[in-house]
Amino acid sequence: MRLCTGAGERPNRFSEQFFQHGIRTSEAACREIVRPEIALQGIQAFDDDAVPLELLRERAFNLRWAQQPAGVIPLTAADPDFPVCPAIQEELVRYVRDGVFSYGPPEGLPSFREAVAGWFHNSKHIECTAGSIFATDSAASGMAVVARAGLKEGDEVLIADPVDFLFQHTVERAGAVPVRVPVTPETTAQEFIAAMQERLTPRTRMLWLCNPHNPLGVVYSREWLKQVAEWAISNGLKILSDEIWSDIVYPPHQHVSVAALSPEIARHTVTVYGFSKNFALAGLRVGCVLATDLEWLQQIMAAADAESTVYGVSVLSQVAVVAAVQHGQPWLRDFVRHLEAQRDYVLERLAHWPGVSVHPPQGTYVAFPNTMALDEDSERFCQHLHQQARVALVPGAARWFGPGARGHVRICFATSRGLLEEAFDRIQPVIMQLQERN
Ligand SMILES: Cc1ncc(COP(=O)(O)O)c(C=O)c1O
Repeated sequence: MRLCTGAGERPNRFSEQFFQHGIRTSEAACREIVRPEIALQGIQAFDDDAVPLELLRERAFNLRWAQQPAGVIPLTAADPDFPVCPAIQEELVRYVRDGVFSYGPPEGLPSFREAVAGWFHNSKHIECTAGSIFATDSAASGMAVVARAGLKEGDEVLIADPVDFLFQHTVERAGAVPVRVPVTPETTAQEFIAAMQERLTPRTRMLWLCNPHNPLGVVYSREWLKQVAEWAISNGLKILSDEIWSDIVYPPHQHVSVAALSPEIARHTVTVYGFSKNFALAGLRVGCVLATDLEWLQQIMAAADAESTVYGVSVLSQVAVVAAVQHGQPWLRDFVRHLEAQRDYVLERLAHWPGVSVHPPQGTYVAFPNTMALDEDSERFCQHLHQQARVALVPGAARWFGPGARGHVRICFATSRGLLEEAFDRIQPVIMQLQERN
């Protein structure tokens, strides 16, 4: 369904009045089903009406609705604008009604570890058991505990440039040194290996991969991963594979887990995973680390200090994950279908930004166009769009993604079609003015 803003205005816009005062002004009379083919596939969960704008304005932080001036549409942090699937909501309500919230085990609830191991086994083909899973309070903290367990002052870690800021941040927090390896969507395994080889020193300890890649949207092929993983292992490196985006992949691409490549590669790999992207559970702070080398997993748990209860994941968050992986698959399938249509729409609209190029995202729900032709300073470009178009994007600044992000912006499209359309409608005239000025 789309919203209309009142007499005389084009339908399918979000009203200024709503943005100013939090009042939704749509009327049944001016609603229309715009994508019946999708509605028939059960995608109503991702219609405009499904976006709970009032609640997002109250609850969605991290550069999003709750932190933007009224009227600004945030296509910023990669966090969906939709509520979680009904199965999760129902299970949480049931659990809360029981009223018992005792301590859970430090490694995670048995039901969580069983369910998540099953999920990895069935959907990612990793040979693992419940004993290979350690519950963490997010993918971010999964990365942190792996770093704390395996790195010491002065150790070096190979990370991509660009890549999500957490890679650099987490390595540095552990006292180690991130060593940037340039990547583009076209970088072949041989090129990546050659670039790593140039940066390899006696202090290099680990390779941290992001697959699918945020912000490039690349889904690495089996052959790419195999060559890179074999090179890493033959040089004595351990691998951290961040696969938080692995459920958001568009056909014909397929996600391949590094730990599914071979038992030998699995032994040298920890997989970091989370539930913020696929099941929209960012605020519940829940994820996990998977290691088939159980000695390594023990070291990671020890580094987390979970035994002493200093660290531990809320049982409610784990209960939500069990419901998600056991009953949320149809919702996730519909979500990915919606996102694929959103991805295509973003590409269609970006084609009208003069001089701008973009690599079609194969996975993730972020697009990462090169906007150098409009403004080579992406911070300035984003500020301009914020002021003139009232749309917030993430600039390709070194602090977010590394120096290799220069001249790009990141656009999150995990919202409804109406909001995305409104955002691009607002941006287009501002872009045309910029082009005239250049
Ligand atoms: C590649 C990558 N890893 C980790 C995270 C953090 O996820 P979480 O919310 O589970 O900490 C993100 C979030 O954007 C991400 O893109």
